[in-house]
Amino acid sequence: MLRASAAPMERSPGELLELNQRIQALKRKLNAVIVAHNYQRPEVQDAADFVGDSLELSRQATQADARVIVFCGVDFMAESAAILNPDKTVLLAESTACCPMAAMIDARDLQEWKTRYPQAGVVCYVNTTAAVKADSDICCTSANAAKVVESLPHDEILFVPDKNLGQFVASRTRKRMVLYPGYCITHHRLNPGQVLQAKALYPDAPVLVHPECRPEVVALADAALSTSQMARYARESEARTFLIGTEEGLLYRLRKENPGKRFFLISTSLICPNMKRTTLDTVVKTMEDGRNVVTVPEDIRLKAKRALDRMLAVK
Ligand code: 13P
Ligand code: SF4
Repeated sequence: MLRASAAPMERSPGELLELNQRIQALKRKLNAVIVAHNYQRPEVQDAADFVGDSLELSRQATQADARVIVFCGVDFMAESAAILNPDKTVLLAESTACCPMAAMIDARDLQEWKTRYPQAGVVCYVNTTAAVKADSDICCTSANAAKVVESLPHDEILFVPDKNLGQFVASRTRKRMVLYPGYCITHHRLNPGQVLQAKALYPDAPVLVHPECRPEVVALADAALSTSQMARYARESEARTFLIGTEEGLLYRLRKENPGKRFFLISTSLICPNMKRTTLDTVVKTMEDGRNVVTVPEDIRLKAKRALDRMLAVK
């Protein structure tokens, strides 16, 4: 869950440039690659070698030709990188950056639910701890959840922990879905009234939301997409104006890649405080001190890797 820590220091453009240069020098010294989630601060995205969604970052981690992976995102993402790359050192750029949704289920909760639904195939969202992944049949991300569910032979699927993503998948499959009641505190805040208000202002703008949003919000959208799928949609669409229902960090990438197009965040409350904990200062400190090494006990790592590998094999 959210842990107390000092508010990040605001830096001038000159200071940000200097920090970026230090990071690039540290990268060469450590033989490191820096990966950042689409929700990271603009200056962190600019310092990274690769910016993407959860699925892309998992894939990137396995392909990285580096000794050290510096992960700018939240805990479960860095853990996935550590699970997939036992021969590399994974550093979480900010140790207090965690995902409250991933903390909504632990291995004991999952065991209890599995006992209630013994016939069900278990699909866990990548936003989970390694221990929950280890006890699941397969992982999924928001980019591939429906395909992953369809790939299992089971008629009944226990889907954990995001009930909104689970509901979105349920609308696209004939499988019986049992949904664990977790949710993202940021996306769940977005309500249909806010979407309708934005649509009234820009009636021609496509509405793109994340499937972590409530079903009533998804129902009003033109598409429910992972963050990188939104980036692709924006690039390929003829539209000039878009209404975006996901964490505000993605807007930096959308505007950078599409200079002639306009992007409006549907609600100013779409901020994930954990994603904002990583700053260039924390990246520098983590790299200089070699701290925040992400480790997973080997027995759990091997089982969790099986669930991630199965997901990566789904085409
Ligand atoms: P994406 O996989 O779409 O990047 O989403 C990750 C996440 O945490 C969304 O809140
Ligand atoms: Fe977790 Fe939501 Fe933040 Fe994504 S946006 S990291 S799901 S709390």
